[in-house]
Amino acid sequence: MTDATPKIRIRGLTKSFGPKRVLDGIDLDVMPGTSCVVIGGSGSGKSVLLRCILGLITPDSGSIEIDGVDILALPARRRESAIEKIGMLFQNGALFDSLSVWENVAFGLMAAGRRHGARMARAEARAHAGRVLEQVGLDPSVGALSPSELSGGMQKRVGLARAIASQPDILFFDEPTTGLDPIMGAVIDGLIVDCVRRLGSTAIAITHDMASAQRIGDRAAMLYQGKLIWQGAASALLNSGNPMVDQFTHGRREGPISMELRR
Ligand SMILES: Nc1ncnc2c1ncn2[C@@H]1O[C@H](COP(=O)(O)OP(=O)(O)OP(=O)(O)O)[C@@H](O)[C@H]1O
Ligand SMILES: [Mg+2]
Repeated sequence: MTDATPKIRIRGLTKSFGPKRVLDGIDLDVMPGTSCVVIGGSGSGKSVLLRCILGLITPDSGSIEIDGVDILALPARRRESAIEKIGMLFQNGALFDSLSVWENVAFGLMAAGRRHGARMARAEARAHAGRVLEQVGLDPSVGALSPSELSGGMQKRVGLARAIASQPDILFFDEPTTGLDPIMGAVIDGLIVDCVRRLGSTAIAITHDMASAQRIGDRAAMLYQGKLIWQGAASALLNSGNPMVDQFTHGRREGPISMELRR
């Protein structure tokens, strides 16, 4: 792989649910070690895009290359091991309430170990989870609690700890700061930037928060009616010169984007 090979290269990605075409020919390149922020209205398909890359949703057509290899064309087992390298912070946290915090953090590690026949001892996994919890600013003693005993901000940190636990070279963040107070949001953004820099990872982050988008992203892209209608520097989000991006990033009611009824 040369430096010019995107870490993630998406071409012509489409996905419909029934008559509704959610993704309608997505082309996106994310270069190694950079972060791309995806913005777009609620229901525009941002989460579906990440879920397609993660193999949780099967796209109808198109290609998704990771390190130059089309993962959709790989046999299932090889696709799984390519996707295993991706750490994901889910929009809703998606922590398992039946597991303790440390088990949640170590979940991916232990599962991957089992698949590769190299079981990680529980004590070792627990110690590792404690170190990762510290990296996201939580006391390792939090590991013994149940996710339901934590505040929303702490749950986001645990979700972040789980995403980075295996030191993945690709990280996805689906609305990492939604529902957090502004200071906690900035703290989580800082942790994300730190993690991405420390691991040298490539990241895609979805956010509705323009301050957050500019803190996290190098590049940005806007999804509208199934297409990426704009791509540019994240620093240009508030003065992109594109009327649709402007309306969205400045939160204007009037403009080319009209409210549609959801179904
Ligand atoms: N598994 C599914 N089955 C059917 N429809 C789905 C499925 N997943 C998503 N959709 C539909 O795809 C569209 C896009 O959903 P998606 O979750 O990607 O939106 P989003 O851009 O992430 O929105 P938000 O900002 O509210 O999280 C929605 O209309 C949704 O109802
Ligand atoms: Mg979403």
